[in-house]
Amino acid sequence: MNSISVFGPNDGPIAAAIISALHVVCFDSAWDLDSTAATLAVPGTVAFIIEGSAKDSGEAEGDALQPLGFLIYRATLDEAEILSLGVVMDARRRGMGRNLIAECLRRCQASGVKSLFLEVAESNQAAKSLYEMAGFEVQGRRKNYYKAANKDQAAEDALIYRITPKASP
Ligand SMILES: CC(C)(COP(=O)(O)OP(=O)(O)OC[C@H]1O[C@@H](n2cnc3c(N)ncnc32)[C@H](O)[C@@H]1OP(=O)(O)O)[C@@H](O)C(=O)NCCC(=O)NCCS
Repeated sequence: MNSISVFGPNDGPIAAAIISALHVVCFDSAWDLDSTAATLAVPGTVAFIIEGSAKDSGEAEGDALQPLGFLIYRATLDEAEILSLGVVMDARRRGMGRNLIAECLRRCQASGVKSLFLEVAESNQAAKSLYEMAGFEVQGRRKNYYKAANKDQAAEDALIYRITPKASP
C-alpha cells in the first residue's frame, strides 16, 4: 500500500531533506539540499513524497513505510510545470510514478490549472512511456537542452510534453 504526503513552501526543511536524498539515488546529476530547499520555497511549488513498505522496494520483507519516490510541480496562474519526478530503482515498475502523476493531475485540475507541462530527455524511454500512458502529448522540442556531462557525450534535446488536466470520470 502506498501513501502520498503533500508539502508546500511553508512546510519546513524535512521535505527538502527527503527529496534531495531521493534525488541522489534517482538521478546521475542530483540536486543538493540547498537547491532542493530553494526550489521548494518558491511560491506555487508543491511536492509529493510517496511512501511504501520495503516489499514495494523489492527489498526485505517488512511493513514499515519508507520514502520511495517524489514529484515536484509549480503552478503559476493557470499553468503548471513538473520540475522533477523520480522513483528509487528497486521500486520502479510498481505503479509509483503512475500514482504520483495521477495525484498531480488531480490537484492541478482541482486548482484550475489548464495546462501542465514538463521537459524530458529524448532518450528517457521510461519517463516518456509514463507520460504518454498518462495522456501527455509532445508539444515541442528544445534543441541541445541537456548539456553533455563530458567530452565523450553529445548534448541532448528535450521534448516538451503537455496535458490539459481533466476531472477523472
Ligand atoms: C520514470 C520513472 C519515474 C517511472 O517510475 P515508475 O514508478 O517505474 O513508473 P510506473 O511503475 O508507475 O510505470 C507506469 C507506466 O509507465 C511506463 N514505464 C515505466 N517505466 C518504463 C520503462 N522502464 N520502460 C517502458 N515503459 C515504462 C509503462 O507504461 C508503465 O506501465 P506498466 O508497468 O503497466 O507497463 C522512473 O523510471 C525513474 O525514476 N526514472 C529515473 C528518473 C527520471 O528519469 N525521472 C523523469 C525525469 S523527466
